[in-house]
Order: sequence, then structure tokens, then C-alpha cells
Amino acid sequence: MLICPICSGPLNKLGDGGVACFAGHRFDRARQGYLNLLPVQHKNSRDPGDNQAMVEARRDFLNAGHYAPVAKRLAELAAERKPQRWLDVGCGEGYYTARIGTALPDAAGYALDISREAVKRACRRAPELTWLVASMARIPLAEGSCDFLASVFSPLDWHEAKRVLNPGGGLMRVGPTQQHLMELREKLYDQVRDYVDDKHLAQVPAGMRQAHSETLEFKLSLANSQDRANLLAMTPHGWRASAERRTAVIEQAEPFEVTVAMRYDWFVRD
Ligand SMILES: C[S@@+](CC[C@H](N)C(=O)[O-])C[C@H]1O[C@@H](n2cnc3c(N)ncnc32)[C@H](O)[C@@H]1O
Ligand SMILES: [Zn+2]
Repeated sequence: MLICPICSGPLNKLGDGGVACFAGHRFDRARQGYLNLLPVQHKNSRDPGDNQAMVEARRDFLNAGHYAPVAKRLAELAAERKPQRWLDVGCGEGYYTARIGTALPDAAGYALDISREAVKRACRRAPELTWLVASMARIPLAEGSCDFLASVFSPLDWHEAKRVLNPGGGLMRVGPTQQHLMELREKLYDQVRDYVDDKHLAQVPAGMRQAHSETLEFKLSLANSQDRANLLAMTPHGWRASAERRTAVIEQAEPFEVTVAMRYDWFVRD
């Protein structure tokens, strides 16, 4: 199912755990178990994707269970669709991926992210899944090979997503709604910017259509300052807001209540 990110030929397993195509492009398997399918010439920087600090902040925040209802609903939506082969595109450090994997014990699961720091940590969560350092602009999976894709809080190359989807298969996109983290944004900025949460609908390519949409909203109480610091570090607010406002949020004495608001959009490939 894996294809070469350089020539798109099928990749075959080598004795040392790596893979190679017939043209002789070889890719190593890291000691942690993931495959590195990102050729140097496809990297825009030495270390593309999220850096270690962002990845660790997100891992600690998610591991504390603050977004557990978001993962639970995603896993339910995945299980309802009964895919045989699925892929999490832009999996980060694998929190949501692992939950999908548990909900789909009989399916073949794949996950990719361009950040090595993220995938290195992600693959510890679920060694039975196939973890890839790869670009979503060149997904190293064959055309029509997947029947479920997940894209959670990530950028997305819609044409690549469509290419790897089987007709009848689909993509579940999870992203924030306008209300997401509103109380935090009000504390950080004098003027809270409007956030248009359906911009992605204009990017859906011909041959894919929206078949379902729902939202999930709940209140989260962040009593401890480490949780608030992690939340800031894993969002753009960590660098966009002023240092003074960020410190005020982190050090606030009373518990901090914030709205979590997500939308789940399901797009089917015709
Ligand atoms: C906000 S994070 C979300 C991670 C994860 N889905 C989650 O919700 O915890 C976005 C992820 O997209 C990855 N990413 C950005 N550009 C990418 C690309 N071209 N190919 C693959 N992954 C990419 C980043 O490295 C980062 O891990
Ligand atoms: Zn090749």
C-alpha cells in the first residue's frame, strides 16, 4: 500500500525494517518504529512542521484529558463508518490517532506528519499502527487505498486527500468553531478577531461533497497554570498575544473556565 514519495512506485519491505522501491529509493525505519518517507528534497526547512516545544505542550495538555470528549466523538464517528484502511493526515503526536485506532481494532491504520519530533513520540502510543514522517502534499499511499481519512486541527491538501480515498470513502475534518476558546481570546486581545469556521468548505474539490456536519461544545476549567501555559503554547495565541497578557492568563489565581467548541465535517468521495 505504501508508495515511494519520489517515483510513486510500490514500496517493499527490506530485511532491516526499511522499505525500497524498484527504482532503488530506500527509506529507513527509525529505532522508535516509524518510517521516514520524507526525502530531503521535499523538506522546506531542516526540521519542518511543529517543533519540540509545541509538540510537548500539546502532548501534555492532551494527555491531561482536557480534550477527551473531542477524541471520543471522533472515534465514534470513525467506528460508525467501518473503514478497512484509514489514515490520520497531520497526526501530530498521535493523541487522536491512537483513539481512532482503539475504535477500529480490525482496520489497518496509518498516520503521517511532517514533524519528526511529533511522529517520534506518536508511534509509542500505538505500535500496531503504521507511523510515517511524510508530507501531506505527497501522501505515500496508493490512489484509492483508504476509506477513512482524519484531519484534526491540521492544514490539508484536499487534492491529495481525494487521491488516496476510495470512492464511497470520506474525510472527517475536525476544527475549531468561532466560539472556541472565546474566554481565553477575550483575555488576550482587546479586539477578538472574527474567526470564520467554514472557510474550508470552499476548498472541497469537485468529486467530493459534504455529507454530515455537527458541533461539540463544552466548558473546560483550567485550574492549574501549567495547563494554561500548555494551551497557549500549542495554539497561535502563544506567540500572537502580548507577553504581558499571556503571563496574566497563566498566573491568574482563580480557575479559568473556557469554552471548547469543535466542528466535525464529513466529506464523501463520489
Ligand atoms: C495543530 S497540529 C495538529 C496535530 C494533531 N492532529 C492534533 O490535533 O493533535 C498540525 C500538525 O500538522 C503538521 N503539518 C503541517 N504541515 C504539514 C505537511 N505539509 N505535511 C504533514 N504534516 C504537516 C504539523 O507538523 C502539526 O503536527
Ligand atoms: Zn522510488
